[in-house]
Amino acid sequence: MDAPHRLGKSVTEKLVTDPASDTENRTDYWKNRSAGWTEAATAAKPNDDTFNLRLIEEVGITPNMDVLDVASGTGDPAITIAGALEIGSVTACDMTSEMLAVAAARAAKLSIINLRIAAGNMNALPFSNSTFDAITSRNGLMFPDDKVGCAREVLRVLKPEGTAGWMVWGPIEANPTFLAVNAGLEKFFSEKFPPRMIRHNLGAPGLLTDVIKEAGFTSAKEIELKQERLINVGDNYFRRAVARTAPHRIGNLTERDWMVLLENVQNACANYLDGDIYRIPVVARLGIGTAGS
Ligand SMILES: C[S@@+](CC[C@H](N)C(=O)[O-])C[C@H]1O[C@@H](n2cnc3c(N)ncnc32)[C@H](O)[C@@H]1O
Repeated sequence: MDAPHRLGKSVTEKLVTDPASDTENRTDYWKNRSAGWTEAATAAKPNDDTFNLRLIEEVGITPNMDVLDVASGTGDPAITIAGALEIGSVTACDMTSEMLAVAAARAAKLSIINLRIAAGNMNALPFSNSTFDAITSRNGLMFPDDKVGCAREVLRVLKPEGTAGWMVWGPIEANPTFLAVNAGLEKFFSEKFPPRMIRHNLGAPGLLTDVIKEAGFTSAKEIELKQERLINVGDNYFRRAVARTAPHRIGNLTERDWMVLLENVQNACANYLDGDIYRIPVVARLGIGTAGS
């Protein structure tokens, strides 16, 4: 039985009906998206580690820990975590093998030897109880319906007194890149590209805390992560964002098509242009849970 909830209603009930989770929580959906994520991950090294480093700090990862990264996809933040370890290891776990293959290729390209990959659904993690010193997850917990059940799985495989941290997107209106990419795609293809609101379903303050507490963690805290990302004109930031958003539409684009499409996206971000630099607001939320003894 769930513990009585401080708002009177279980967070599971509040969050259960995201219609997109039928699609976005399926392996074939993410398998089909992996080409776009491969394109976006060509640099191997993350091109902005600001939030990953904060996640590492808040989870308290130290160089000798064995860490699990859930819904790691193409390896974020696992790649950054690997760089923070000396004798420890990081396991990148995701339900989509095609995404994990990119994580492994990135690690190889960066000569990282302490990153392992493991295929698995976050609702039934393929690990024994009390396996990991610390657990992270970035932009994955929005997708399953049973978020509390998934957080319970993290608690199960976390060692006593270990810490877990989930990063999720803040509200869409606080993250203008999403809307600009969709506006650019709509103009280029002359059709509707509705934003994927499922990405933001844990973006309101308090929801992550509710999930973590309801899962049985002894303590929970939540932090708003905010930054102004500085993107030089000509950087492929917008191209990576388009590739991740519409991987199914980019396969046949010529370089000329890309130029036109990216011009549309950049025009939609014109308000953020300051000289030769786009100053793009990015807002995420970080939920931290500590296990009891
Ligand atoms: C938006 S991507 C984030 C990937 C990576 N953590 C990052 O921040 O770049 C979401 C990932 O969640 C994975 N995913 C979605 N539902 C899942 C589930 N129920 N169990 C495991 N992985 C899941 C997808 O396969 C995908 O790789």
